[in-house]
Amino acid sequence: MHNLAQNIVENDSGEVFIEGDWFPNPLPKNIFLDEMAYPDTSYSFTTFFSEKPVGFALGYASGNYGHGIFTTGKRGEIKIGKFVVLQCTRLISNLCITIKDHCMFSWGSVVTDSWINAGTVSPSVRRRMLENASGSKTRHLEFIEPQPVLIEENVWVGFEAIILPGVTIGRGAIIGSKTIVSEDVPPYAVVVGNPGRIIKFIEPTDTEEHKQRAIKQFIK
Ligand SMILES: CC(C)(COP(=O)(O)OP(=O)(O)OC[C@H]1O[C@@H](n2cnc3c(N)ncnc32)[C@H](O)[C@@H]1OP(=O)(O)O)[C@@H](O)C(=O)NCCC(=O)NCCS
Repeated sequence: MHNLAQNIVENDSGEVFIEGDWFPNPLPKNIFLDEMAYPDTSYSFTTFFSEKPVGFALGYASGNYGHGIFTTGKRGEIKIGKFVVLQCTRLISNLCITIKDHCMFSWGSVVTDSWINAGTVSPSVRRRMLENASGSKTRHLEFIEPQPVLIEENVWVGFEAIILPGVTIGRGAIIGSKTIVSEDVPPYAVVVGNPGRIIKFIEPTDTEEHKQRAIKQFIK
């Protein structure tokens, strides 16, 4: 963790902090920050409870801007590729969220691989669940049956868009602002609205060759 876009300092107990962080917590030990990554602040990890060996990975030159939030349960895992921009983004994982290279997430976008399960449609079940949570140490509500989310390369997610459990978004796709995505999106599709509808397909200019050329320009 030594060649980040921010300085990292370690205290005598081996805890790792972002230099100048406005929030006083150390970073979790089970995260991987690649060179030139910009984790922003430890505040983003206040609800990060992953017990995976690497519960969060931020790839080369990727950044968390505007205090995004990374919420995970014990089995949650968030894997982010290279050159990704997360702008005030909330990622919620109890299984696995994978975001590949060159993706862009705008203000207030949310990606989740899980939520309170369908059993909780019953008011009495919800009531019991809330009472149980209030008596537990962590006060967590259990999210069950998570489904992995995969966001392929070069995807652009507009502001306040929501990506739901089990969804795969194809390479180069665009998700319009405030769109709710509950089904897979094909590569290069532009999806808008709630329920999301495909309004067009864009030209696939980001061939493998384009991508490799772009990466070579940045990684010398
Ligand atoms: C998805 C987006 C790129 C589409 O732009 P576009 O290709 O120029 O689309 P158009 O403006 O031609 O709209 C096409 C249709 O989709 C609708 N539409 C476009 N964006 C929409 C949205 N976010 N939600 C609902 N409907 C939308 C339009 O009303 C229009 O409908 P119609 O054909 O029935 O009249 C754009 O609308 C968008 O949402 N951009 C994200 C902006 C953003 O989040 N910026 C943050 C800074 S990074």
